[in-house]
Amino acid sequence: MSRVFNFSAGPATLPVPVLEQAAAEMLDYRGCGMSVMEMSHRSPEFKEIIETAEADLRELMAIPDNYSVIFLQGGATLQFSGIPMNFMKKGKADYIVSGSWSKKAAKEAEKYGEVHVVASSADDNFASIPDVDDIAFDEDADYVYICQNETITGTTYHKLPDTHGIPLIADVSSMFLSEPIDVSRYGVVYGGVQKNVGPAGLCIMIIRNDLLDGDIKPYTPVYLDYKLQAEKGSLYNTPACYTIYMCGLVFKWLKAQGGLEGIARRNREKAALLYNYLDNSALFKPTAAKADRSIMNVPFVTGDADLDAAFIAGAKAHGIANIKGHRSVGGMRASIYNAMTVEGVQALVDYMKEFEAAQA
Ligand SMILES: Cc1ncc(COP(=O)(O)O)c(C=O)c1O
Repeated sequence: MSRVFNFSAGPATLPVPVLEQAAAEMLDYRGCGMSVMEMSHRSPEFKEIIETAEADLRELMAIPDNYSVIFLQGGATLQFSGIPMNFMKKGKADYIVSGSWSKKAAKEAEKYGEVHVVASSADDNFASIPDVDDIAFDEDADYVYICQNETITGTTYHKLPDTHGIPLIADVSSMFLSEPIDVSRYGVVYGGVQKNVGPAGLCIMIIRNDLLDGDIKPYTPVYLDYKLQAEKGSLYNTPACYTIYMCGLVFKWLKAQGGLEGIARRNREKAALLYNYLDNSALFKPTAAKADRSIMNVPFVTGDADLDAAFIAGAKAHGIANIKGHRSVGGMRASIYNAMTVEGVQALVDYMKEFEAAQA
């Protein structure tokens, strides 16, 4: 067996012990004679899987009791529509546009109500997070929307906007479970799991219960009725059973890493290793504004497209995969999610050093 250091932005690397456990349980899940893939979502075994996953997630994130957790298919993109359908009760919302993902979410929401882009870093090519200190939010807005970690440009909010009581909705797809967050500061926290939590096919939503009250848009597909999904424990229909099982294994793994405090320490160590090298390199430059850098997605360039291409082409021989930047930005991007090891980041830095020395 030979595993590479996989820097993909998602679907992304998963912890080896989780994959090993899934492999060991593949044909016969804990003596029931079948795989989790093959069992009924109404079986006692699956009931235990989904309930344990939710309980472990609640423990890891210290989710207050007045929040519901739902597991939905369709990724985060589907919720770009589900969110306005469920929460635009008065018909308008404020969006902060800090990159491709918040821009897409705002554009989708326009189909369902009035969207005000109250701050944007488009003029800066999304290399930074807009200043959130002096935003004049509409006090009638149903919610304020942010993408807390922009996967493509590698920026993150190190400070949340003060929304003066308007519910804050945050897409945390590419920073899910990477560090502790105070859930009580949000109305909704949600994200696709295929970056930091599990295989593709699932979106986890954590919703403050009072936001589930009241009418939703009458044309909302029943699948996207969050209140119904919460009442049914995400079992209104057949959920993404196997993906939920895999996420559950990842939650157990995270608990064994010292929970979110423990994993955050390691994530900061990995990010520091990479940024320290980038900040001192004469060849490679990080592209995100220093104050807003993500510790999960690290885009960088040489400034010369041919050199970037040579670096990417040479990565394979060093056991490094998926280091090419997003097509909209170019250059390179290292996604260093929870399951990326310090050893993997060190291997990348060693290759960068070697490549840089060869140019001299
Ligand atoms: C921050 C963020 N939001 C939303 C999405 C869209 O997620 P999905 O592909 O699960 O719909 C992505 C995907 O990469 C993302 O990085």
